[in-house]
Amino acid sequence: MLAIRLVSEPERLDTLVLPVRNEGSDAPATLVPTASPPADDLQAEATALIPAARLSGAAGEVREHLRPGGTPGRLVLLGVGAGDEQSWRTAGAALARAAQDEAQVTVVLPAGDQAALRGLTEGLLLGSYRYRLTETGGAPALAEVDLVVGDPEGLAPTLDAARTTAEMTRLARDLTNTPSSVKNPAWFAARIEAAAAEHPDLHLRVREPEELAAEGFGGILAVGGGSASGPRLVELDWRPADARTHVVLVGKGITFDTGGISIKPVPAMKLMRKDMAGAAAVVAATLGAAALRLPVRVTTLAPLAENMVSGSAFRPGDIVRHYGGLTSETTNSDAEGRLVLADAMAYAVREIKPDLLVDLATLTGANAVALGKRHGALYSENDQLAADLLTAIEAAGERAWRMPLAADYVEYLGSDIADLHSSPARGAGSVVAALFLREFTGELRDRWVHVDMSAPSWSEDTHAELTKGATGWGVRGLLRWLATLG
Ligand code: BES
Ligand code: MN
Ligand code: ZN
Repeated sequence: MLAIRLVSEPERLDTLVLPVRNEGSDAPATLVPTASPPADDLQAEATALIPAARLSGAAGEVREHLRPGGTPGRLVLLGVGAGDEQSWRTAGAALARAAQDEAQVTVVLPAGDQAALRGLTEGLLLGSYRYRLTETGGAPALAEVDLVVGDPEGLAPTLDAARTTAEMTRLARDLTNTPSSVKNPAWFAARIEAAAAEHPDLHLRVREPEELAAEGFGGILAVGGGSASGPRLVELDWRPADARTHVVLVGKGITFDTGGISIKPVPAMKLMRKDMAGAAAVVAATLGAAALRLPVRVTTLAPLAENMVSGSAFRPGDIVRHYGGLTSETTNSDAEGRLVLADAMAYAVREIKPDLLVDLATLTGANAVALGKRHGALYSENDQLAADLLTAIEAAGERAWRMPLAADYVEYLGSDIADLHSSPARGAGSVVAALFLREFTGELRDRWVHVDMSAPSWSEDTHAELTKGATGWGVRGLLRWLATLG
């Protein structure tokens, strides 16, 4: 990963990056006043370059100006838009791409601007992300970025928060991009174990199929039953002594979703290695909370299973007995996510009894039908909690939209033979799935948030700080939110 350092003055002058603002639609772009302003002649040169290079100052705009024999030898003008955190994030990602052939660059930042530092750092680290199974050449050369700030010591915690956030987002992307030939439940659990081992204060328990059976996790066992790689339930606990709030995070961890006996057609199945993006996000956020020593207790549950087609797979028409005893009639084995989540949530409510419960899941294709490709669908009965999470998600540069837990559809959850019907054929898909999950929230019903994040978990293209493929959606927003609970 790119090494980013804070310095009080430029130490190397191969490539100097100066930020350029856009004050508004008609206003001309201007150089941003920075902590260590360039010498007068360089300042004049850069100012003259702005109109000459037709810079608008829009976030992510990059112009490189070569100065053979000069110091610096290259001058880069970087558009930072209105100078808000997201614009800096976009700028950081654009710079990481534009400067990928340089070994080192130096960026001058506005004095004391935490949002700029945070946005730029995350943009650099997320925009330079790439997933490769094998390291075969072609990796970007850019290895070092010096950020010139007025007060390197005072800003060190901000850099640390940004770096940890980006590192954990990259971890979630790696896990989600990994092919399912590698990523079975045991492999995923082992990766979590390895990452957690770096923090002595994290406690981990991984339940194997025998323990799941003994304790009654019928949903996880039903969904995982068709696979040669048995299911797991990962329980990861960050328990700081000074915590006042206890949050349980639950993430859907289907390491591949064929649909099961209700098998998916080819186009719908081809990306189903990403069906554990919720689990990757909550695990990475918890590791991030531990790395940043956030004073909030976080217990993360990741039910991991592979939804396969085989002689031991569960069938449409089966009745599943969930943890705690509620039963559900399953008529579509492709509605598997809600079955594993239901077990984990019921366990959290009955045994862990947290203050707040949040689940993230690549739950329905209907998420994208309702909200398009970059918004998660957020559900909660608690207005304050919903608003707090939405605020954190947006501040972190992610997007979600609140959806209604519409009472109109509750009747569809009725079954003639079980307590619930898990996949009614009527109603808005993402909403009905949320209503099903709500049945497992017990006393935490109004302290629960569900986010269907199947749409934003994956990006079809490179877009600002997102790279093509897994996005790591949720890590940034969750870490922001957890940091407010201390
Ligand atoms: N993993 C899928 C949802 C999904 C679809 C995620 C597209 C990402 C992109 C989930 O398990 C699923 O199959 N949901 C069904 C639910 C239906 C059977 C009630 C769906 O959305 O079609
Ligand atoms: Mn499915
Ligand atoms: Zn699924």
